Amino acid sequence: MKRKKIVVGNWKMNMTMDQSNSLIKELKSISENDVEIKIAPSFTNLHNAVLLGQLSSSNGQYIEVVAQNIHSEERGAYTGEISAEMLKSIGVKSVIIGHSERRKYFNETDSILSKKVKTAIKYNIGVIFCVGEELSERENNNHFNVIKDQISIGLFDLDAYEINKVVIAYEPVWAIGTGKTANSNQIQEMHEFIRELVKDKFDHLRNKSTNDSAASESLRILYGGSVKPNNAKEIFSLQDVDGGLIGGASLNFADFSTIIKAANG
Ligand code: PGA
Repeated sequence: MKRKKIVVGNWKMNMTMDQSNSLIKELKSISENDVEIKIAPSFTNLHNAVLLGQLSSSNGQYIEVVAQNIHSEERGAYTGEISAEMLKSIGVKSVIIGHSERRKYFNETDSILSKKVKTAIKYNIGVIFCVGEELSERENNNHFNVIKDQISIGLFDLDAYEINKVVIAYEPVWAIGTGKTANSNQIQEMHEFIRELVKDKFDHLRNKSTNDSAASESLRILYGGSVKPNNAKEIFSLQDVDGGLIGGASLNFADFSTIIKAANG
């Protein structure tokens, strides 16, 4: 099955409103249609991003807007937090959940993340669910167990159709913002492992009589961690890599557009 590639720019805590608006306008000029382009600006820039990225367009290029976070509860006394319903009401289509920076600096545990996933999906917001091992976990040869736990606690509460709303991003923590990338073998074997986990859990639950394609076959698995213009093509050519989650290199048009082009075709 051919899966359409996705390239997501995770802008983290960068960009003023003007900077965000002008980068989105530049991205709209890209004519690659074989790639789904998504951006995750900060909360203050989301609404403008929706208006610029998802609505008006001269060449038809659609830039999907993704939130960087969501609260697990639907509403209430949680000062400073943002709910699924609020995101939905301004047209945000999906949300990043489980990024290693949220796990590390904001103490988000697997069980909190699992609640966030449930809440997002209840409101029909797509999920980009991030998993990844620390360097010490890889050195101790524990990386497959770590990823298995993160995925099973985070996603295995979903049913065989809800999982369609999820994209998984494999981001080894030691590769994020460090300039180090996992090598092609490490990436491909982990992506294959992740697809296998989803297959074992969900594929047999699908209704064979309606000819649903298997959850694991349509699942998009992105790689993240120091994807740059000079390594994107090789990474995106791996069999189980369906695109990338890009941090630093998504902040300027030249690098980000080169990476998007590398995902085309
Ligand atoms: P990086 O970040 O591309 O700057 O390594 C990736 C991410 O955190 O999603």
